[in-house]
Amino acid sequence: MEVTAKPVSATRSTLTQVMEPGHNFLGKVFGGALLSMVDLAAYTTASRFAGNICVTASFDRVDFVAPIDVGDVVTMESFIGFAGRTSMEVVIDVWAENILTGEKRHTNKARVTMVALKDGKPYPVPKLICENREDRLTFLEGKARKERRFAHRAEFDQIMERLASQTDEKLDELILVSSLAELGFA
Ligand SMILES: CC(C)(COP(=O)(O)OP(=O)(O)OC[C@H]1O[C@@H](n2cnc3c(N)ncnc32)[C@H](O)[C@@H]1OP(=O)(O)O)[C@@H](O)C(=O)NCCC(=O)NCCS
Repeated sequence: MEVTAKPVSATRSTLTQVMEPGHNFLGKVFGGALLSMVDLAAYTTASRFAGNICVTASFDRVDFVAPIDVGDVVTMESFIGFAGRTSMEVVIDVWAENILTGEKRHTNKARVTMVALKDGKPYPVPKLICENREDRLTFLEGKARKERRFAHRAEFDQIMERLASQTDEKLDELILVSSLAELGFA
């Protein structure tokens, strides 16, 4: 029988890995290696919640606030923050720990939208039960982000259409202006 609702607390999971020399880029961990781990954490958390295979639909902004050294232990703490009909937003906090000093740094926060699939098509996911105020706020943040994403995309497409209709001379002029927004192009 399919589970139709799950609480946020049941969606929490942790993924830990030592960053090996293969992840090295100029002495620090390559950003792409970290994104690959974030994707894996998102996949595991979403697929467990959905009870189906999930695919990555989009990554929201990921800031690299502190570098990670080769040899650090990286931990991904993830949970489902928002569930739509067939999509979910997975929130992932990344921590890096220096084994010798025990120092732990919060290096990233990522939000990844995953979509559950069955027979290759988007398939409904369980409802997400918010258990406290923080859960409710995180849920609404994800819901708002989803709505903004579509509105923003439509708005951006219009801007790109307007830009594409300008002459090369006008485009050269726009390349040199300090703010595209002031001219209504951003
Ligand atoms: C993600 C994917 C399944 C969506 O398929 P689709 O036919 O556009 O599906 P729908 O329009 O019915 O949307 C299904 C859900 O996905 C969400 N979605 C679709 N595209 C999205 C995007 N780019 N970002 C965030 N969410 C998205 C929709 O909002 C919808 O959510 P909801 O059911 O909770 O309201 C499809 O685009 C796909 O297979 N992409 C490739 C995924 C993949 O291979 N990922 C790994 C990349 S290496």
